Amino acid sequence: MRIDILTLFPQTFEALFSFSIFKRAVDNNLISINLHNIRDCTHNKHHTVDDYSYGGGPGMILKPEPIFEAVEAIKSDINAKEKVRALPIILLTPQGRLFSQQVAQELSRYSHLILICGHYEGVDERVREHLVTDEISIGDYVLTGGELPAMVVIDTVVRLLPGVLGSEASPANDSHANGLLEYPQYTRPVEYRGWSVPEVLISGNHAQIAKWRREQTIRRTLERRPELLDKINLCLEEKQLIEHLTLSLKQSQPNLDKESRE
Ligand code: 6GU
Repeated sequence: MRIDILTLFPQTFEALFSFSIFKRAVDNNLISINLHNIRDCTHNKHHTVDDYSYGGGPGMILKPEPIFEAVEAIKSDINAKEKVRALPIILLTPQGRLFSQQVAQELSRYSHLILICGHYEGVDERVREHLVTDEISIGDYVLTGGELPAMVVIDTVVRLLPGVLGSEASPANDSHANGLLEYPQYTRPVEYRGWSVPEVLISGNHAQIAKWRREQTIRRTLERRPELLDKINLCLEEKQLIEHLTLSLKQSQPNLDKESRE
């Protein structure tokens, strides 16, 4: 996958790309990353990238010309090298569709991504209307720029690409990969400060371990993110487990609703 990033602060990406997983993915030609400074695409003497908002109001708006020209140059470069099926041009903005593991899986199927990091009070609307093909937000809170969101998107997508995580680690068991939270995990020592690893995990009984993990996954999701359970298909046994757990949760925390209101 080739990823092109348009930003006013290319140096902010250094920390992410210095991680060994990224370095290895680049060395093994699994990904290539090109950082473009929007300021380099300006033609005026002062390399102005932003200007006042027509109609007035606080804050500066990113001008359309440098962004259009940078994206067009990237597109020509890609098209000169290979035939591409689809080329998503993604604007990172709090107004975008909400990012999720599912969106990451969708993006991981493209051979190229172009990410535009917005800044200041916003981006000239013509960039949204006539250039970008997708807009993504990473959550309902406001950051100063699109750099951190772009890093979140890139990290999530890149680790899904075949070969990036190496052979043993698989993204298939991740929390959220199957729509649920991951089961608890332990490593040595088997007892630490008197706290023991659950017996079943050292039993060697693989069927029992798989059953325990599935139950833990459901219990954990029910306790922490119950809304996730509504979105997935469960077998009869799992539905019964949820009913049972819901009842015992209510019994152990009868005043939960009341307390949270006080
Ligand atoms: Cl993509 N950008 C900014 N500036 N703030 C955000 C965001 C994006 N997603 C959540 N908050």
